[in-house]
Amino acid sequence: MSDFVNPSEEIKNNAYVKDYEKLYKDSLEHPDAFWENVAKELFWYKPWTKVIESKHPYYDWFVGGQTNIVANALDRWQKTEKKDQLALVWEGQDGKVVRYTYQQLHEQVSRAANALKSLGVKKGDRVSIYMPRIPEQTIVMLASAKIGAIHTVVYSGFSVQALKSRIEDAESKIVITADGYHFRDKLVETKKTVDDAIKDNPAVKKVLVVKRTGNPIAFTEGKDIWWEELVSKQDSICPTEILDANDPLFILYTSGSTGTPKGVIHAHGGYMVGVYITAKYIFNLRSNDVFWCAADPGWITGHSYIVYSPFINGVTNFIYEGPPDYPDAGKWWSMIEKYKITKFYTAPTAIRALMKYGDAIPQKYNLSSLKILGSVGEPINPEAWRWYYRVIGKEKCPIMDTWWQTETGMHIISPLPTSPLKPGSAGKPFFGIKADVVDEKGTPVAVNTQGYLVLKKPWPAMFKDVYKNSKKYTDLYWGKIPGTYFTGDFAKRDSDGYFWILGRNDDVMKVSGYRFGSAELESAFVAHPSVAEAAVIGKPHEIKGESIKAFVILKVGVQPTDELKNELKQQVRKLIGPIATPDEIEFVPALPKTRSGKIMRRVLKAKELGQDLGDTSTLEG
Ligand code: WT7
Repeated sequence: MSDFVNPSEEIKNNAYVKDYEKLYKDSLEHPDAFWENVAKELFWYKPWTKVIESKHPYYDWFVGGQTNIVANALDRWQKTEKKDQLALVWEGQDGKVVRYTYQQLHEQVSRAANALKSLGVKKGDRVSIYMPRIPEQTIVMLASAKIGAIHTVVYSGFSVQALKSRIEDAESKIVITADGYHFRDKLVETKKTVDDAIKDNPAVKKVLVVKRTGNPIAFTEGKDIWWEELVSKQDSICPTEILDANDPLFILYTSGSTGTPKGVIHAHGGYMVGVYITAKYIFNLRSNDVFWCAADPGWITGHSYIVYSPFINGVTNFIYEGPPDYPDAGKWWSMIEKYKITKFYTAPTAIRALMKYGDAIPQKYNLSSLKILGSVGEPINPEAWRWYYRVIGKEKCPIMDTWWQTETGMHIISPLPTSPLKPGSAGKPFFGIKADVVDEKGTPVAVNTQGYLVLKKPWPAMFKDVYKNSKKYTDLYWGKIPGTYFTGDFAKRDSDGYFWILGRNDDVMKVSGYRFGSAELESAFVAHPSVAEAAVIGKPHEIKGESIKAFVILKVGVQPTDELKNELKQQVRKLIGPIATPDEIEFVPALPKTRSGKIMRRVLKAKELGQDLGDTSTLEG
């Protein structure tokens, strides 16, 4: 079969999973047994009495079991030789390097956990984290989990308003941040953003500040506390909180098609099992691996495949603070050479951006340590796949195109290292996962036909609920096609059973891998005094995957000028963040709407792309 890229003998001999089809079949026939066997590889204070309990659409995993994800990520290595192995290697954009062995990381996390306790943080409390990609970001997430608190990380590329609403929704009493950080040659003042975000929020009592750059900051004695001062004086021993398997671990906000971002809740036990085994099998993790997931811990990719699963698998985890192409387009490749990275995981947008600089730059570096490559966040076009495979992986590293979501917590559809690969396809479902492509009634569609991607069986790392909004959980995810989990993606399945992800089927867009809902972007426009109404769509973009285009109706008497367009772009940057900057703004006199007044973004998009408008029978007028 010529359309497959096949694994080498070496990969086949070294992989955990040699026969996907057989194990997959078994895992669907006996999912409890499959997941239970995985869970048994991990540490539990008390074993579960039931693998899964269904209160559809709610599912509890490992009921009766007691554990803590940090007991598996750090504690259990302390009595083994692994305590002396490097756990975390970090390099800053300025070249600074920090290294922690498993023992040192354990001690540092314990000190940070004691510091949180000294500030009154208890089990179940929410802890907001707004930090650059520095070791303390990972450390404080682990520290929060260790004492049973619930971390809620906000990516440092978000601005005041986005941070404010997330801190308020989570009702955090404490925020952890840094004075600032450098992104390329620009100073980003994270502490200032926190100050602005909490100025009308009396619930936040303490702000813990890591010194990263030493830039001047406003400092309120009693409320603001330097991390270094507080953490260094703490004891390096801190007992890990014994938790129920279904106790919450974190809340992570993500965008949906309507309303404000949703707080997705994940719990210790099931999440730990899911991220552990997917990382192990998909990246074929071994003790001597140097794993680099180039995402930010502030996103789900970073939670699952930087902060937790690499440590649970006992590998050496590498984090680099800066972007791929600063000060030059060889930066990431130089990191792979310097640290002898064996497994490298990034997003298509980064691959496309780096591909643009040509083959000569990566060819300057010795990338021979690489064994497996990964891709995540959006569909990878075959051209970028082939470049990644040929120029970075030298045609010997299989590419794991992992499809999953903030809500799924773990990889759901992905090849394994031994899978025959098809460039551009995410392959087949992971063990225990029943994925299907269906029409709006839930009937499976024919081979090679576009339909809705749904999941028909629960999986351990599935989210527990939407924080303070269970109706969204039941209606948006489980109410569209009763009995199945609605992913929001279009997909098709080919005659070999391979899934091809075709993008979102709702008003969610993926811009450089970042997820935005049209509603939150539109509110940012409408917050401007000159704007009457706005509609936002995603347009295909060569590097970013999608770019943001806004159609704006101005208030009567307002002049449609280029200055105003710039002002509106600045407004969105200010309210949501630079990552949400619109590419195009068009002033329009009206927007296509249904008779009930809903904006038909689908019609706007089809017109913009010169496509057939589809069914417009509900269109007004
Ligand atoms: C959405 C979820 C999963 C971690 C990062 C994104 C898209 C994700 C792939 C892939 C095609 C993908 C989907 C999904 N997506 N991975 N391998 N191929 N599309 O998490 O921000 O929650 O976004 O990202 O559209 O629904 P997220």
